[in-house]
Amino acid sequence: MDQGPLHFGQLSWPGSDRQRKRWWERKVTSLLRKARLPIAVQRSFDHRLDMVSLEQVNNLYLLLTSVLVGKVPGAVVELGCHTGSTTTVLGQILQNHEQPPAMHVYDLFDGAWSTEESVLDRFRANHAAIGLALPHIHKGDVFSTVPSELPDQIAFAHVDLGVGGDHDLHYRLVTHALETVHARLSPHGVLVLMDYHVPGLTVDGNDSNPGVRKACDAFFLNKRERVITLYGGPCSHGFVRKK
Ligand SMILES: C[S@@+](CC[C@H](N)C(=O)[O-])C[C@H]1O[C@@H](n2cnc3c(N)ncnc32)[C@H](O)[C@@H]1O
Repeated sequence: MDQGPLHFGQLSWPGSDRQRKRWWERKVTSLLRKARLPIAVQRSFDHRLDMVSLEQVNNLYLLLTSVLVGKVPGAVVELGCHTGSTTTVLGQILQNHEQPPAMHVYDLFDGAWSTEESVLDRFRANHAAIGLALPHIHKGDVFSTVPSELPDQIAFAHVDLGVGGDHDLHYRLVTHALETVHARLSPHGVLVLMDYHVPGLTVDGNDSNPGVRKACDAFFLNKRERVITLYGGPCSHGFVRKK
């Protein structure tokens, strides 16, 4: 159902309030400016608590909207959704669209990496808290669920499988995601890569999962597309638009 334009400020996701500037941060920044010290005071992004930055949410909004407005055929998929920070952002954008495509999410939903006792319960609760319908949930290892449970045609994909630690495993996970998703991505479809970081090219960012770029460099070597780095503020981001 088309509910009129969706503004960036209307989007919310778990912990999004933490990233809004507090009144005292604005006040101190303003006082410093008056003292001719152009320094902004703001709490730094907490990579342990927050899964997505404001800048990355803006990127997701613009990229998913471009696919919807362009009527690119296919589903929306997310590989790596944890408790649903980015899933709820994508879900709100879809919910606001007339005739939204189906959304499918893939995750282990186990507590090994998370601080949550039940990741899936929290995922469901985070959707309920903002009145958002659940996407199609595919619980399990993406080496098993993908591509067998992937939709045949994909318009938009978000790959966010990094949990730090084992860089080689993460490289293999992202390579698997690229090989399976890219083959089903419609022309003009978009693939967004969390943590895509190119030292010297990514502005700010955080190279927390270097396996993403390693996997992309190898995969796109013989492809027509190239990954484009985006500004993600304190987090690194990249995307590809299928030719
Ligand atoms: C950084 S988190 C995703 C964050 C999420 N996009 C959000 O905004 O909350 C990475 C996720 O990848 C998942 N993951 C890691 N390895 C996986 C695998 N082999 N199969 C499925 N999911 C996996 C983890 O369970 C974790 O939830």
